[in-house]
Amino acid sequence: QELQLNLEQIEKGGYDHFMLKEIYEQPRAILDTFRGRLRTNEAIIKMSGVEDNMKKFLNADRIIVVACGTSWHAGLVSEYIFEDLARIPVEVEYASEFRYRNPVITEKDLVIAISQSGETADTLAAIKLAKSKGAFVFGVCNVVGSSIARETDAGAYTHAGPEIGVASTKAFTTQITVLTLIALRLARAKGTISSSDYRHHLIELELIPSKVEKVLKSDDYVKTIANIYKDVKNFLYLGRGYNFPVALEGALKLKEISYIHAEGYPAAEMKHGPIALIDENMPIVVIATKKGHYDKVVSNIQEIKSRKGKIIGIVTEGDQQVKELADHVIEVPETLESLSPLVTTIPLQLLSYHIAVMLNKNVDQPRNLAKSVTVE
Ligand code: AGP
Repeated sequence: QELQLNLEQIEKGGYDHFMLKEIYEQPRAILDTFRGRLRTNEAIIKMSGVEDNMKKFLNADRIIVVACGTSWHAGLVSEYIFEDLARIPVEVEYASEFRYRNPVITEKDLVIAISQSGETADTLAAIKLAKSKGAFVFGVCNVVGSSIARETDAGAYTHAGPEIGVASTKAFTTQITVLTLIALRLARAKGTISSSDYRHHLIELELIPSKVEKVLKSDDYVKTIANIYKDVKNFLYLGRGYNFPVALEGALKLKEISYIHAEGYPAAEMKHGPIALIDENMPIVVIATKKGHYDKVVSNIQEIKSRKGKIIGIVTEGDQQVKELADHVIEVPETLESLSPLVTTIPLQLLSYHIAVMLNKNVDQPRNLAKSVTVE
């Protein structure tokens, strides 16, 4: 028993929980994921799974992403990236809905299945369905040799390393990294991105690990915010554009490990319902980075403020406007809007982690949840 405990301590590498270790591993995991693939000096991206199947990618009428949970959120981010950069129409589907919906799929569709474990039953079934209709299926998995890695026609691994905490963290950011690389490669091949914009993306992507490192330095400050709000019953998370899926992911993290009810919403949808929930007891996490519809998000923040909601802003370094309105702001380094989810996600992971620890919850193995959902 004691030996077992010591072993676990060693595996946690000095961290109190696997989740915290995995949050802190993200700079390295992202780097490992683009290492060898992103060659900034030569201005190329090399991924054999994509190169070998370039025709399939370029001839596809649309991309259908199938996934569950956090992987589905990474898929939602990729919808923005693929459409924005490579001008390919994308649909993002919950694998569980897709498989039973009698969806319209043809050989002209390219399906991307995203899964950390590579064992999620619904995602696996969605892949089989898509293949039976003649679609080409590309996998983005973390676990080498997993069922999904074997079942797909081709793929690209995330190199996150083992993820033990049930709440997915480094898998999410490395999935976004892989999907960004694919989108940039396709954009270049299709000529939908200028060479200067393309280069700019490569340079900025290469800087992401050090920027994530910098965000991790706000950990103590995030902890003080966690302490203020740990006893509330509800949270709202708002974001727009690339950061709308990040809002969903932030809310999922909080629900999973702290059991606090949280909802993620596109900021502009607030006035279509959720605004009724806002009073002085409601904390609202708003992602308001400089380039992403900033003015519109600021006006959403004003609407919250006039209803006395408590605002926790995720802002770009040096931001003044949101700072004046919000109760707390967590700064993240500036980057391209398309890459911003890789930095804005980090404080949300830390916030949910600290709240769960303060509430004495089982962070690594929350109740009712399994690391891989192998039954439907
Ligand atoms: C994430 O924190 C969850 N534990 C869960 O939503 C997970 O992302 C989902 O079950 C999908 O798992 P997969 O990536 O292994 O397919």
